[in-house]
Parts: sequence; C-alpha cells; structure tokens
Amino acid sequence: MKFNTLKWTENGLEIIDQRLLPIHEKYIILSTTDEVCQAIKTLAVRGAPAIGVAASYGVVVAAKESTSIDFVRSSMKKLRLTRPTAVNLFTALDKMESQLETAFDSGDPINFLLCIAQEIHHEDYRICKNLSIHGAELLSDGDTVLTHCNAGALATSGYGTALGVVYAAVESGKKISVFADETRPLLQGARLTAWELAKNDIYVTVICDNMAATVLREGKIDHVIVGADRIASNGDAANKIGTYPLSICAKEHNVPFYVAAPLTSFDFSIATGAKIPIEQRSEMEIHTIFGMQVAPANVSFYNPAFDVTPFSNITAIISEKGIARQPFNSILKQWSIK
Ligand code: MRU
Repeated sequence: MKFNTLKWTENGLEIIDQRLLPIHEKYIILSTTDEVCQAIKTLAVRGAPAIGVAASYGVVVAAKESTSIDFVRSSMKKLRLTRPTAVNLFTALDKMESQLETAFDSGDPINFLLCIAQEIHHEDYRICKNLSIHGAELLSDGDTVLTHCNAGALATSGYGTALGVVYAAVESGKKISVFADETRPLLQGARLTAWELAKNDIYVTVICDNMAATVLREGKIDHVIVGADRIASNGDAANKIGTYPLSICAKEHNVPFYVAAPLTSFDFSIATGAKIPIEQRSEMEIHTIFGMQVAPANVSFYNPAFDVTPFSNITAIISEKGIARQPFNSILKQWSIK
C-alpha cells in the first residue's frame, strides 16, 4: 500500500487521520488513552479490524502514561466504551487484558504489552491477506465489484477484507474494476474507498447509495463484496448501514453477495444477528454535512450506524479459513472451533 493506516512509534500510535481524507493525507500521533478513545469515537481510525488494533496499542499508550495497573485497567474500560458494534475491539482488548498481570509482573509492562499489540497488528495483516487470496478465486478477469463503506487497507492493519479480495485478484493478474457506494452519512465509500483504490491504480466509479439498485439492474456488477463488523453463529452479518438493502437488491438481480471478514469479526457467542448491538450516532451527522445544514433543525433524526444482513441474503462468507457457502451451519460451526 502507498500509505500506512497505523503504526507504533516511540511517541505513541501514529494513524492516518481518516476524517481528513481524501483532501489531506495527514498522520497524527496519539499519545494518551483519551486521544486514542477520541480517535476511535470520531472515526479518525475506523473499520472493525483497525479499531481492534488501535485499541490494543491504546493499552500500551496507557501503560506509558502511568505505571499503575489500575490506571491501565480503567483505560481499558474507556476503550471498551468507544464503539459497540465491531467485535474486534472486544476480542483485541480481551487478549490484552488476559496478559495484563503477567505484563506487570515482568517488570517491563510497556514492552510486554507492546509485543502483544504488535502480534495482534501483524496477525491481522496476515489473516486479511489470506482471506483475500481465498476470495480472489471468486473473481474473473474483467469483473466489476460493487462495495459499500470502506473495508480496505484503511479499515484494517493495511490490506483490507472486501477490498483485499480486489487487491489479491489484481495482484494475481486479473483486471478488476470497482463501483463504490458513497455511504451516507459519513461517506466512507466516496472519501475512503475511492481514495485508496485510486491510490493503488484500481479503476473506481463512485455512486450515490440510492443508485445501487439501478447499476445492478443494468448488469454492470458481477459481484457485491462487503466487510463485516460482527458475524453471528448463523451467518447474520452486521456491517455499515445500507448493507442490508444492498443485499436485497443483489438477491433481486441474481448478483452474488459476499461478506469478507477475518474470524476476529465473528461472534460465536451469539446465535443470530438480533443480539448484535447497533451503534446509534449523533443526529448531527445527518442534518449537517461538512458544516452545512441540510435539513431543518426542528425535526427528528435517526442515525443507526450499522444494519444486519440476514444470512439468507449472503451467497458466501469469505474468511482466512476459506469460503463458506450456504447452508452455513456446519462450516461456521467448524470455524468456531479454534
Ligand atoms: O463506521 P465504520 O466506518 O467503522 O464502519 C466500517 C464498516 O462498516 C466496515 O465495512 C467494517 O468495519 C469492515 S472493515 C474491514
């Protein structure tokens, strides 16, 4: 990739500030837990795997801020409260927490915790690349993919899931082009997906969310591929709001609909998507765009950040273990066994 999503430096966690893309490619350093929490809440760093990696480094930042294990514990609690839907945040923090006492007993908690955070970071890159290589088998030379939100290098530790599949197909010599839904309200598709694909020389066409049904009916799309923030045991998948209606449109037009996600985005403790907590975000994101008011202030707004696509609308789920096709039950059960 021609940019770094996040990296550890001696001053703290460096991230590309995704709030400023595509206008400015600016890197910022987060050196307090409050800064890490704020960056996650305001989507300076975002995307399920990247949130998990950032939170892991957030624990190292906390250990640098104070030598007290209680301080680090309470910082972890703050990190857990940043965003509720992506399960990667909790999986990563659980792993950090399981090593906390050993880290403090070692006499060098900062370096001990840093090693675990780096392991989570590098492991995420490796598994995203592996799942992308599996997914690339589904694409043929000349295909066009429609995606929603940003499930690319920016949303992970640097390779991507849905866009990772595109990158892996291109790396294997196939010519692939992409349609990107703009993804209201925060425009991750227009701002981020289009930016990173263009930066990597992949032909991309941005459409408004309400044009997806039309491009599917016009036969312009061979596959829809999206990421996920949390996948339940039955295959129901939470992803950016607007993914569910896209799955209905894909089904209506007989276009395969794939969800690409690492096992760290699966929550085998819940049976169905009905149990996935859906983040509700500020009404400001709807009535004001880049500082300009676009709706009357004296009306109501409703802003769920994610929706759940029922497993029945998903053609296949792609993970580092391979490709799960319908019926999902037995294969997802195998994937749930570590
Ligand atoms: O609110 P965001 O931008 O964090 O939402 C991100 C998504 O919905 C992604 O599609 C998902 O996290 C998968 S990232 C590989």
